Amino acid sequence: MVQVTQFTSVDSKRKRTILVTGGAGFIGANFIRTWLDAEEASVVNLDKLTYAGNLDNLHGLDRTRIEFVQGDIGDVSLVKGLLDRVRPRAIVNFAAESHVDRSIHGPDDFIATNVVGTFRLLECVREYWQRMDASERETFRFVHVSTDEVYGSLLADEVPFRETSAFQPNSPYAASKASSDHLMRAWHHTYALPIITTNCSNNYGPFQFPEKLIPLMIQNALDGKPLPVYGDGLQIRDWLYVEDHCAAIRAVLRAGKPGSTYNIGGESEKTNIEVVHAICDILEEECPQAAKQSYRNQIAFVKDRPGHDRRYAIDASKIRHELEWRPIQSFESGLRNTVRWYVANRAWTARILSGSYRDWIQTNYSAR
Ligand code: NAD
Ligand code: DAU
Repeated sequence: MVQVTQFTSVDSKRKRTILVTGGAGFIGANFIRTWLDAEEASVVNLDKLTYAGNLDNLHGLDRTRIEFVQGDIGDVSLVKGLLDRVRPRAIVNFAAESHVDRSIHGPDDFIATNVVGTFRLLECVREYWQRMDASERETFRFVHVSTDEVYGSLLADEVPFRETSAFQPNSPYAASKASSDHLMRAWHHTYALPIITTNCSNNYGPFQFPEKLIPLMIQNALDGKPLPVYGDGLQIRDWLYVEDHCAAIRAVLRAGKPGSTYNIGGESEKTNIEVVHAICDILEEECPQAAKQSYRNQIAFVKDRPGHDRRYAIDASKIRHELEWRPIQSFESGLRNTVRWYVANRAWTARILSGSYRDWIQTNYSAR
Protein backbone atom coordinates (compact mmCIF):
# COMPACT_ATOMS: atom_id res chain seq x y z
CA MET A 1 0.00 0.00 0.00
CA VAL A 2 1.30 3.45 -0.87
CA GLN A 3 2.05 5.80 2.01
CA VAL A 4 -0.06 8.95 1.76
CA THR A 5 2.21 11.82 2.76
CA GLN A 6 0.28 14.91 1.80
CA PHE A 7 -3.25 15.93 1.11
CA THR A 8 -4.34 18.79 -1.07
CA SER A 9 -5.48 21.69 1.08
CA VAL A 10 -9.27 22.08 1.16
CA ASP A 11 -11.02 25.40 0.82
CA SER A 12 -10.72 26.56 4.42
CA LYS A 13 -13.59 28.96 4.01
CA ARG A 14 -16.12 26.18 3.51
CA LYS A 15 -18.22 26.80 6.55
CA ARG A 16 -19.35 23.27 7.00
CA THR A 17 -15.86 21.85 7.44
CA ILE A 18 -15.42 19.73 10.53
CA LEU A 19 -12.22 19.16 12.48
CA VAL A 20 -11.43 15.57 13.40
CA THR A 21 -8.59 14.84 15.83
CA GLY A 22 -6.87 11.45 15.79
CA GLY A 23 -8.24 10.71 12.32
CA ALA A 24 -5.25 8.58 11.33
CA GLY A 25 -6.08 6.02 14.02
CA PHE A 26 -8.53 3.13 13.87
CA ILE A 27 -11.92 4.71 14.65
CA GLY A 28 -10.97 8.19 13.41
CA ALA A 29 -9.97 6.86 9.99
CA ASN A 30 -13.14 4.79 9.71
CA PHE A 31 -15.08 7.89 10.76
CA ILE A 32 -13.49 10.02 8.02
CA ARG A 33 -14.07 7.30 5.42
CA THR A 34 -17.74 6.91 6.28
CA TRP A 35 -18.20 10.67 6.76
CA LEU A 36 -17.03 11.42 3.21
CA ASP A 37 -19.57 8.90 1.87
CA ALA A 38 -22.45 10.08 4.01
CA GLU A 39 -21.99 13.87 4.23
CA GLU A 40 -20.98 16.80 2.06
CA ALA A 41 -18.72 18.69 4.42
CA SER A 42 -14.94 18.53 4.18
CA VAL A 43 -12.71 17.28 6.98
CA VAL A 44 -9.52 18.61 8.48
CA ASN A 45 -7.68 15.85 10.31
CA LEU A 46 -5.31 16.85 13.12
CA ASP A 47 -3.19 13.89 14.18
CA LYS A 48 0.16 13.61 15.94
CA LEU A 49 0.95 10.32 14.19
CA THR A 50 1.96 8.36 17.26
CA TYR A 51 2.75 4.66 16.76
CA ALA A 52 -1.03 4.18 16.29
CA GLY A 53 -1.51 6.89 13.68
CA ASN A 54 -1.14 5.60 10.13
CA LEU A 55 -1.83 7.57 6.97
CA ASP A 56 -2.25 4.26 5.11
CA ASN A 57 -5.64 4.18 6.85
CA LEU A 58 -6.75 7.14 4.71
CA HIS A 59 -5.34 5.89 1.45
CA GLY A 60 -7.51 6.37 -1.63
CA LEU A 61 -9.79 9.08 -0.23
CA ASP A 62 -10.81 12.22 -2.13
CA ARG A 63 -7.94 14.61 -1.41
CA THR A 64 -10.01 17.64 -2.27
CA ARG A 65 -12.19 16.95 0.77
CA ILE A 66 -9.63 16.20 3.46
CA GLU A 67 -6.66 18.11 4.73
CA PHE A 68 -4.14 16.44 7.00
CA VAL A 69 -2.30 18.44 9.64
CA GLN A 70 0.33 16.68 11.71
CA GLY A 71 0.33 17.97 15.28
CA ASP A 72 -0.55 17.50 18.93
CA ILE A 73 -3.96 18.38 20.39
CA GLY A 74 -1.97 19.85 23.29
CA ASP A 75 -0.05 22.29 21.08
CA VAL A 76 -1.96 25.47 21.90
CA SER A 77 -0.52 27.77 19.25
CA LEU A 78 -0.98 25.16 16.51
CA VAL A 79 -4.58 24.39 17.53
CA LYS A 80 -5.54 28.07 17.88
CA GLY A 81 -4.07 28.87 14.46
CA LEU A 82 -5.85 25.88 12.93
CA LEU A 83 -9.23 26.83 14.40
CA ASP A 84 -8.86 30.41 13.16
CA ARG A 85 -7.89 29.30 9.67
CA VAL A 86 -10.39 26.45 9.20
CA ARG A 87 -13.29 27.81 11.28
CA PRO A 88 -14.88 24.36 11.74
CA ARG A 89 -18.55 24.14 12.61
CA ALA A 90 -17.87 21.02 14.68
CA ILE A 91 -15.02 19.06 16.25
CA VAL A 92 -14.90 15.33 16.84
CA ASN A 93 -12.14 14.40 19.27
CA PHE A 94 -10.77 10.88 18.77
CA ALA A 95 -7.14 11.73 19.62
CA ALA A 96 -5.97 9.62 22.55
CA GLU A 97 -3.66 6.94 23.76
CA SER A 98 -6.03 3.98 23.58
CA HIS A 99 -4.40 0.70 24.60
CA VAL A 100 -4.99 -0.53 28.16
CA ASP A 101 -1.87 -2.76 28.29
CA ARG A 102 0.35 0.13 27.20
CA SER A 103 -1.19 2.31 29.93
CA ILE A 104 -0.17 -0.34 32.49
CA HIS A 105 3.42 -0.47 31.20
CA GLY A 106 3.75 3.32 30.89
CA PRO A 107 0.95 5.69 31.89
CA ASP A 108 2.80 8.98 31.16
CA ASP A 109 1.64 9.40 27.57
CA PHE A 110 -1.93 8.68 28.67
CA ILE A 111 -1.91 11.54 31.13
CA ALA A 112 -0.11 13.83 28.66
CA THR A 113 -2.60 13.33 25.81
CA ASN A 114 -5.84 12.11 27.35
CA VAL A 115 -5.83 14.55 30.27
CA VAL A 116 -3.48 17.50 29.63
CA GLY A 117 -3.79 17.45 25.82
CA THR A 118 -7.57 17.22 26.00
CA PHE A 119 -7.66 20.08 28.51
CA ARG A 120 -5.56 22.29 26.21
CA LEU A 121 -7.72 21.44 23.21
CA LEU A 122 -10.80 22.25 25.23
CA GLU A 123 -9.44 25.65 26.24
CA CYS A 124 -8.59 26.50 22.62
CA VAL A 125 -12.08 25.47 21.55
CA ARG A 126 -13.68 27.53 24.32
CA GLU A 127 -11.80 30.62 23.25
CA TYR A 128 -12.69 29.99 19.58
CA TRP A 129 -16.37 29.39 20.39
CA GLN A 130 -16.65 32.49 22.58
CA ARG A 131 -15.49 34.65 19.66
CA MET A 132 -18.22 33.32 17.32
CA ASP A 133 -21.38 35.26 16.55
CA ALA A 134 -24.54 34.07 18.28
CA SER A 135 -25.91 31.98 15.41
CA GLU A 136 -22.62 30.12 14.89
CA ARG A 137 -22.30 29.54 18.62
CA GLU A 138 -25.77 28.03 18.63
CA THR A 139 -25.00 25.35 16.03
CA PHE A 140 -21.37 24.59 16.95
CA ARG A 141 -20.73 21.14 18.47
CA PHE A 142 -17.76 19.49 20.19
CA VAL A 143 -18.11 15.70 20.31
CA HIS A 144 -15.74 13.95 22.70
CA VAL A 145 -15.32 10.25 21.91
CA SER A 146 -14.92 8.25 25.09
CA THR A 147 -15.23 4.73 26.37
CA ASP A 148 -17.38 2.43 28.51
CA GLU A 149 -14.25 1.69 30.59
CA VAL A 150 -14.90 4.85 32.64
CA TYR A 151 -17.69 2.93 34.40
CA GLY A 152 -15.41 0.15 35.69
CA SER A 153 -16.28 -3.52 35.74
CA LEU A 154 -19.64 -5.32 36.03
CA LEU A 155 -20.50 -8.51 37.89
CA ALA A 156 -22.18 -11.25 35.85
CA ASP A 157 -25.66 -10.42 37.16
CA GLU A 158 -25.45 -6.61 37.08
CA VAL A 159 -27.41 -4.52 34.58
CA PRO A 160 -25.42 -2.91 31.72
CA PHE A 161 -23.89 0.55 32.13
CA ARG A 162 -26.29 3.47 31.74
CA GLU A 163 -25.36 7.13 31.25
CA THR A 164 -26.10 7.59 34.95
CA SER A 165 -23.79 4.79 36.15
CA ALA A 166 -21.03 5.90 38.52
CA PHE A 167 -17.52 6.40 37.17
CA GLN A 168 -15.19 3.70 38.57
CA PRO A 169 -12.20 3.57 36.20
CA ASN A 170 -9.77 0.76 36.96
CA SER A 171 -6.81 1.11 34.57
CA PRO A 172 -4.56 4.12 33.95
CA TYR A 173 -6.16 4.35 30.49
CA ALA A 174 -9.69 4.31 31.92
CA ALA A 175 -8.76 6.86 34.59
CA SER A 176 -7.30 9.19 31.96
CA LYS A 177 -10.43 8.95 29.81
CA ALA A 178 -12.67 9.44 32.85
CA SER A 179 -10.67 12.58 33.67
CA SER A 180 -11.25 13.93 30.18
CA ASP A 181 -14.98 13.16 30.46
CA HIS A 182 -15.11 15.15 33.71
CA LEU A 183 -13.42 18.08 31.98
CA MET A 184 -16.08 17.93 29.25
CA ARG A 185 -18.88 17.96 31.78
CA ALA A 186 -17.39 20.90 33.68
CA TRP A 187 -16.69 22.95 30.55
CA HIS A 188 -20.30 22.54 29.47
CA HIS A 189 -21.70 23.25 32.91
CA THR A 190 -19.49 26.28 33.62
CA TYR A 191 -18.99 27.87 30.19
CA ALA A 192 -22.00 26.40 28.30
CA LEU A 193 -19.65 25.04 25.63
CA PRO A 194 -21.87 22.75 23.46
CA ILE A 195 -20.12 19.47 24.24
CA ILE A 196 -21.50 15.98 23.80
CA THR A 197 -19.62 12.97 25.16
CA THR A 198 -20.06 9.46 23.81
CA ASN A 199 -19.11 6.35 25.80
CA CYS A 200 -18.72 3.38 23.51
CA SER A 201 -17.97 -0.29 24.00
CA ASN A 202 -15.24 -2.33 22.25
CA ASN A 203 -14.94 -1.60 18.53
CA TYR A 204 -13.60 -3.93 15.88
CA GLY A 205 -13.24 -3.78 12.11
CA PRO A 206 -10.77 -2.74 9.38
CA PHE A 207 -7.68 -0.65 10.19
CA GLN A 208 -7.52 -1.60 13.89
CA PHE A 209 -3.94 -1.65 15.13
CA PRO A 210 -2.89 -5.29 15.65
CA GLU A 211 -2.20 -4.84 19.38
CA LYS A 212 -5.93 -5.14 20.12
CA LEU A 213 -7.58 -8.53 20.70
CA ILE A 214 -9.32 -9.20 17.37
CA PRO A 215 -6.66 -8.06 14.86
CA LEU A 216 -3.88 -9.55 17.01
CA MET A 217 -5.58 -12.94 17.03
CA ILE A 218 -6.25 -12.88 13.27
CA GLN A 219 -2.66 -11.92 12.51
CA ASN A 220 -1.10 -14.43 14.91
CA ALA A 221 -3.35 -17.20 13.60
CA LEU A 222 -2.33 -16.49 10.00
CA ASP A 223 1.35 -16.32 11.02
CA GLY A 224 1.15 -19.68 12.83
CA LYS A 225 1.91 -18.01 16.18
CA PRO A 226 0.31 -18.61 19.62
CA LEU A 227 -3.04 -16.89 20.31
CA PRO A 228 -2.38 -15.37 23.78
CA VAL A 229 -5.58 -15.42 25.85
CA TYR A 230 -5.19 -13.55 29.15
CA GLY A 231 -6.17 -15.42 32.35
CA ASP A 232 -9.14 -17.77 31.96
CA GLY A 233 -10.47 -16.01 28.84
CA LEU A 234 -13.89 -15.56 30.44
CA GLN A 235 -13.80 -11.75 30.60
CA ILE A 236 -16.72 -10.22 28.73
CA ARG A 237 -16.70 -7.33 26.26
CA ASP A 238 -19.65 -5.82 24.36
CA TRP A 239 -18.56 -5.70 20.70
CA LEU A 240 -19.60 -3.09 18.13
CA TYR A 241 -18.58 -2.95 14.46
CA VAL A 242 -16.64 0.28 13.93
CA GLU A 243 -18.85 1.64 11.12
CA ASP A 244 -21.86 1.37 13.43
CA HIS A 245 -19.97 3.45 15.99
CA CYS A 246 -19.20 6.02 13.27
CA ALA A 247 -22.88 6.21 12.33
CA ALA A 248 -23.74 6.79 15.98
CA ILE A 249 -21.28 9.69 16.17
CA ARG A 250 -22.78 11.24 13.02
CA ALA A 251 -26.23 10.95 14.63
CA VAL A 252 -24.92 12.63 17.78
CA LEU A 253 -23.41 15.46 15.73
CA ARG A 254 -26.68 15.89 13.87
CA ALA A 255 -29.18 15.75 16.69
CA GLY A 256 -27.48 15.08 20.04
CA LYS A 257 -28.28 17.36 22.93
CA PRO A 258 -25.41 19.60 24.11
CA GLY A 259 -24.32 18.69 27.62
CA SER A 260 -25.57 15.12 27.19
CA THR A 261 -23.67 11.89 27.21
CA TYR A 262 -24.66 8.92 25.03
CA ASN A 263 -23.73 5.30 25.64
CA ILE A 264 -23.07 3.39 22.43
CA GLY A 265 -22.79 -0.39 22.22
CA GLY A 266 -23.66 -3.43 20.18
CA GLU A 267 -25.58 -5.28 22.90
CA SER A 268 -23.34 -8.14 21.87
CA GLU A 269 -21.61 -9.53 24.93
CA LYS A 270 -19.01 -12.24 24.32
CA THR A 271 -16.32 -13.83 26.43
CA ASN A 272 -12.82 -13.41 25.02
CA ILE A 273 -12.51 -17.13 24.42
CA GLU A 274 -15.77 -17.10 22.44
CA VAL A 275 -14.34 -14.32 20.28
CA VAL A 276 -11.10 -16.22 19.68
CA HIS A 277 -12.99 -19.41 18.83
CA ALA A 278 -15.19 -17.48 16.39
CA ILE A 279 -12.10 -16.01 14.66
CA CYS A 280 -10.54 -19.47 14.38
CA ASP A 281 -13.74 -20.91 12.91
CA ILE A 282 -14.07 -18.15 10.28
CA LEU A 283 -10.40 -18.52 9.36
CA GLU A 284 -10.90 -22.24 8.93
CA GLU A 285 -13.51 -21.49 6.27
CA GLU A 286 -11.71 -18.57 4.65
CA CYS A 287 -8.10 -19.83 4.87
CA PRO A 288 -8.14 -23.59 5.56
CA GLN A 289 -4.81 -24.96 6.73
CA ALA A 290 -3.05 -27.94 5.23
CA ALA A 291 -4.21 -31.29 6.68
CA LYS A 292 -7.31 -29.52 8.04
CA GLN A 293 -5.47 -28.36 11.19
CA SER A 294 -7.59 -26.25 13.52
CA TYR A 295 -6.47 -22.69 14.31
CA ARG A 296 -7.81 -23.37 17.82
CA ASN A 297 -4.69 -25.50 18.41
CA GLN A 298 -2.71 -22.25 18.54
CA ILE A 299 -4.63 -20.91 21.59
CA ALA A 300 -2.32 -20.36 24.60
CA PHE A 301 -3.59 -19.16 27.98
CA VAL A 302 -1.10 -16.61 29.38
CA LYS A 303 -0.71 -14.54 32.55
CA ASP A 304 -3.62 -12.19 33.13
CA ARG A 305 -3.62 -8.42 32.65
CA PRO A 306 -3.16 -6.69 36.06
CA GLY A 307 -6.47 -5.27 37.31
CA HIS A 308 -8.27 -6.86 34.35
CA ASP A 309 -11.90 -5.71 34.20
CA ARG A 310 -14.19 -8.74 34.15
CA ARG A 311 -17.19 -7.49 32.22
CA TYR A 312 -18.35 -4.47 30.22
CA ALA A 313 -21.88 -4.12 28.85
CA ILE A 314 -23.64 -1.06 27.49
CA ASP A 315 -27.29 -0.09 27.74
CA ALA A 316 -27.69 1.87 24.50
CA SER A 317 -31.40 2.58 24.90
CA LYS A 318 -30.93 6.38 25.18
CA ILE A 319 -29.28 6.78 21.77
CA ARG A 320 -31.61 4.18 20.27
CA HIS A 321 -34.71 6.07 21.37
CA GLU A 322 -33.54 9.71 21.21
CA LEU A 323 -31.54 9.56 17.98
CA GLU A 324 -33.03 6.41 16.39
CA TRP A 325 -29.59 4.88 15.97
CA ARG A 326 -29.09 1.15 15.90
CA PRO A 327 -26.24 -1.07 14.74
CA ILE A 328 -26.48 -2.60 11.27
CA GLN A 329 -23.92 -5.38 11.71
CA SER A 330 -24.42 -8.38 13.95
CA PHE A 331 -21.31 -9.69 15.68
CA GLU A 332 -21.27 -12.61 13.22
CA SER A 333 -21.46 -10.47 10.06
CA GLY A 334 -19.09 -7.80 11.40
CA LEU A 335 -16.50 -10.35 12.49
CA ARG A 336 -16.61 -12.10 9.12
CA ASN A 337 -16.10 -8.73 7.32
CA THR A 338 -13.20 -8.01 9.64
CA VAL A 339 -11.46 -11.36 9.18
CA ARG A 340 -11.87 -11.06 5.39
CA TRP A 341 -10.43 -7.53 5.47
CA TYR A 342 -7.32 -8.61 7.39
CA VAL A 343 -6.83 -11.62 5.12
CA ALA A 344 -7.12 -9.39 2.03
CA ASN A 345 -4.92 -6.62 3.45
CA ARG A 346 -1.92 -8.45 4.83
CA ALA A 347 0.38 -5.77 3.34
CA TRP A 348 -1.23 -3.20 5.66
CA THR A 349 -0.39 -5.28 8.72
CA ALA A 350 3.04 -6.20 7.38
CA ARG A 351 4.02 -2.52 7.16
CA ILE A 352 3.08 -2.09 10.83
CA LEU A 353 4.81 -5.28 11.94
CA SER A 354 8.06 -4.24 10.30
CA GLY A 355 8.24 -1.15 12.56
CA SER A 356 8.48 -0.36 16.26
CA TYR A 357 5.44 -2.52 16.98
CA ARG A 358 7.91 -5.41 17.23
CA ASP A 359 9.37 -3.86 20.39
CA TRP A 360 5.90 -3.77 21.95
CA ILE A 361 5.40 -7.50 21.38
CA GLN A 362 8.63 -8.11 23.31
CA THR A 363 7.57 -5.78 26.17
CA ASN A 364 4.05 -7.13 26.58
CA TYR A 365 4.32 -10.84 25.94
CA SER A 366 7.87 -12.00 26.81
CA ALA A 367 7.23 -12.07 30.60
CA ARG A 368 3.76 -13.65 30.38
P1 NAD B 1 -6.05 4.58 18.11
O1 NAD B 1 -5.00 4.38 19.14
O2 NAD B 1 -6.18 3.61 16.99
O3 NAD B 1 -5.85 6.02 17.42
C1 NAD B 1 -5.57 7.17 18.16
C2 NAD B 1 -5.13 8.27 17.19
O4 NAD B 1 -4.88 9.46 17.94
C3 NAD B 1 -3.84 7.95 16.42
O5 NAD B 1 -3.98 8.29 15.07
C4 NAD B 1 -2.80 8.85 17.11
O6 NAD B 1 -1.74 9.22 16.25
C5 NAD B 1 -3.65 10.03 17.52
N1 NAD B 1 -3.08 10.76 18.66
C6 NAD B 1 -2.61 10.24 19.82
N2 NAD B 1 -2.16 11.23 20.62
C7 NAD B 1 -2.38 12.40 19.96
C8 NAD B 1 -2.15 13.77 20.27
N3 NAD B 1 -1.60 14.13 21.44
N4 NAD B 1 -2.51 14.70 19.38
C9 NAD B 1 -3.06 14.35 18.19
N5 NAD B 1 -3.28 13.07 17.82
C10 NAD B 1 -2.95 12.10 18.71
O7 NAD B 1 -7.40 4.73 18.90
P2 NAD B 1 -8.89 4.28 18.50
O8 NAD B 1 -9.09 2.86 18.88
O9 NAD B 1 -9.15 4.72 17.12
O10 NAD B 1 -9.73 5.17 19.52
C11 NAD B 1 -10.13 6.48 19.18
C12 NAD B 1 -10.86 7.09 20.36
O11 NAD B 1 -12.00 6.30 20.66
C13 NAD B 1 -10.04 7.15 21.64
O12 NAD B 1 -10.33 8.35 22.29
C14 NAD B 1 -10.53 5.96 22.45
O13 NAD B 1 -10.40 6.23 23.83
C15 NAD B 1 -11.97 5.91 22.03
N6 NAD B 1 -12.61 4.59 22.10
C16 NAD B 1 -12.02 3.51 21.51
C17 NAD B 1 -12.67 2.27 21.52
C18 NAD B 1 -12.06 1.05 20.87
O14 NAD B 1 -12.59 -0.05 21.03
N7 NAD B 1 -10.97 1.17 20.12
C19 NAD B 1 -13.92 2.15 22.14
C20 NAD B 1 -14.49 3.27 22.73
C21 NAD B 1 -13.83 4.49 22.69
O1 DAU C 1 -14.29 -0.96 26.03
C1 DAU C 1 -13.77 -0.01 25.15
C2 DAU C 1 -12.27 -0.14 25.11
O2 DAU C 1 -12.00 -1.32 24.37
C3 DAU C 1 -11.58 1.06 24.48
O3 DAU C 1 -11.81 2.19 25.27
C4 DAU C 1 -10.07 0.80 24.35
O4 DAU C 1 -9.46 1.89 23.67
C5 DAU C 1 -9.87 -0.47 23.56
O5 DAU C 1 -8.50 -0.77 23.49
C6 DAU C 1 -10.63 -1.63 24.19
O6 DAU C 1 -10.04 -1.98 25.47
P1 DAU C 1 -9.88 -3.51 25.91
O7 DAU C 1 -8.83 -3.62 26.93
O8 DAU C 1 -11.21 -4.13 26.21
O9 DAU C 1 -9.40 -4.11 24.47
P2 DAU C 1 -8.25 -5.16 24.09
O10 DAU C 1 -8.43 -5.47 22.63
O11 DAU C 1 -6.91 -4.75 24.55
O12 DAU C 1 -8.66 -6.45 24.91
C7 DAU C 1 -9.96 -7.03 24.78
C8 DAU C 1 -10.03 -8.19 25.75
O13 DAU C 1 -9.13 -9.21 25.31
C9 DAU C 1 -9.59 -7.83 27.16
O14 DAU C 1 -10.39 -8.54 28.09
C10 DAU C 1 -8.15 -8.31 27.22
C11 DAU C 1 -8.14 -9.51 26.30
N1 DAU C 1 -6.86 -9.76 25.59
C12 DAU C 1 -6.29 -8.75 24.90
C13 DAU C 1 -5.09 -8.94 24.23
C14 DAU C 1 -4.43 -7.81 23.49
C15 DAU C 1 -6.30 -11.04 25.60
O15 DAU C 1 -6.87 -11.99 26.20
N2 DAU C 1 -5.14 -11.24 24.92
C16 DAU C 1 -4.48 -10.24 24.26
O16 DAU C 1 -3.38 -10.49 23.69
